[in-house]
Amino acid sequence: MTTAATNAPPPVKLGVLISGEGTNLQAIIDAIDRDELEAEIRVVISNKAAAGGLERARRHAIPAEFIDHRGFASREDFDRAIVASLHAHGVELVVCAGFMRLLSPVMIAAFRDRIMNIHPALCPAFPGIDAQRQALDYGVRFSGCTVFFVTEGIDDGPVIVQAVVPVHQDDDEATLAARIHAEEHRIYPHAIRLYQQGRLEVRGRRVYIRDAPPIGDPAAIINPRIP
Ligand code: GRF
Repeated sequence: MTTAATNAPPPVKLGVLISGEGTNLQAIIDAIDRDELEAEIRVVISNKAAAGGLERARRHAIPAEFIDHRGFASREDFDRAIVASLHAHGVELVVCAGFMRLLSPVMIAAFRDRIMNIHPALCPAFPGIDAQRQALDYGVRFSGCTVFFVTEGIDDGPVIVQAVVPVHQDDDEATLAARIHAEEHRIYPHAIRLYQQGRLEVRGRRVYIRDAPPIGDPAAIINPRIP
């Protein structure tokens, strides 16, 4: 056995929380299948029975659970049920991928600095729902997506990875969302890989990445570009 093999960090055990289509879940599944991500999805949990992501999980023989938030008296009780399932499946890192519920302190305390989420904007801009609509209404020239560690606030946890996309003058919500979505599918597996490799360290608001490859220069992108 080589030294490298001995020292290689083990696959990370994921629990993925969804409410909808689950294309980010699919991107993670695909990255694992392509051996680009050392991870094992132990369970996918949805608060919506009809979430397409549950079907994607079943197709890949991943345990898929529907936990209806309406069946609980409080947000905390719902989160206790989710935490119980995540623990039962041996989950180490929780990945929110279009999970449309705010997490209570119960959940955050159970997985401190071990819950990631993705937001379709450059945080801290445009938190909450309709981020693409907010970006268009504001008139920004760039938007993008952000993977961050979840805290008690809304879309305001320490930033792990961001991708920037231009906003075109003729964009509508659908075209901008599609451009952002494509980048989400790249940066979410990337962020999870950095975690799996033990390269992320949260210090206050900032996430330090060991051996982060330099972005290169020039770092500035101007939209519209200077002719
Ligand atoms: C994504 O746009 C993500 O940024 C947001 O919810 C959406 C989920 O999309 N948090 P999908 O279900 O992964 O396709």
